Amino acid sequence: MIIRDALRSGEACLDEAVVESARVDAELLLSRALGVSRVDLHTNSGREVRSAELRRYRVLLERRAHREPLAYVLGEWGFRRLTLVVDARVLVPRPETEVVVERCLAQIAEIPEPRVLDVGTGSGAIALAIADEHPGALVTGIDASPDALAVARENVSRTGLDLELARWDLFQGLPEGPWDLVVSNPPYVRTDEIEGLAPEVRDWEPRAALVGEGTTEAVVAGAAAVLRPGGAIVLETAAADARRIAGLLEGGGYRDVRITSDLAGRDRVVEGTIGT
Ligand SMILES: C[S@@+](CC[C@H](N)C(=O)[O-])C[C@H]1O[C@@H](n2cnc3c(N)ncnc32)[C@H](O)[C@@H]1O
Repeated sequence: MIIRDALRSGEACLDEAVVESARVDAELLLSRALGVSRVDLHTNSGREVRSAELRRYRVLLERRAHREPLAYVLGEWGFRRLTLVVDARVLVPRPETEVVVERCLAQIAEIPEPRVLDVGTGSGAIALAIADEHPGALVTGIDASPDALAVARENVSRTGLDLELARWDLFQGLPEGPWDLVVSNPPYVRTDEIEGLAPEVRDWEPRAALVGEGTTEAVVAGAAAVLRPGGAIVLETAAADARRIAGLLEGGGYRDVRITSDLAGRDRVVEGTIGT
């Protein structure tokens, strides 16, 4: 079979499994199986696919056809300037979370060595992106899941960035500061919303990374106790919750509360600074 035909049959297989981006996914999976770039696939579309390559491709396609997230099948995913290890132990870092990092960098831009705490660090995506893009930042990531922390540790060695990691349950309060910035993308899906989610999320991503009653409220209260006066909080929220969370910050002693939307125009990031 030649590359062009392998792509066609891969796309058909993923289409049948109702994968939304069947063509792109087939291309990425064939690139992986062949160890070449997507551009190479197009410039060499008439080249024969060897039988060992075809076997590798079929294994990857089958995983994706079971609606396993593309990021897990590939084993890595791009976030900001980094390529991170991801698997079923952690949430796949999302584009809207890149906006969270953007707001964090704006909050700490004028501080040469800001102390930053990432609550529910998962793969370490937010924490590592901040360490990468603000080289003076002293970043700590905490998570209740030992599995997630193991992935974050892999990402520390993969990126070579400096990050302190600790196992910590945010409901016990937050680690002592003073922190210049507390950031969190806490679990914020409601239990009754789970069934309506895409199979990639509902059936594959860690439930503890998705659903968490009262986690945002606990981070807001916990951060107020450990931020330095004038320190900032940046939170990712569900679009429907952004106004409520902004109100929570205002009622919790934070000022300069601001909501930022993601690239799709949905209100997804809420921030504020603790009153002095
Ligand atoms: C939505 S994921 C965010 C992961 C990563 N920060 C990101 O943005 O891609 C939430 C993370 O919070 C962690 N978590 C859930 N409950 C927690 C708790 N009670 N204490 C600390 N971490 C918790 C989960 O293990 C998960 O890694």
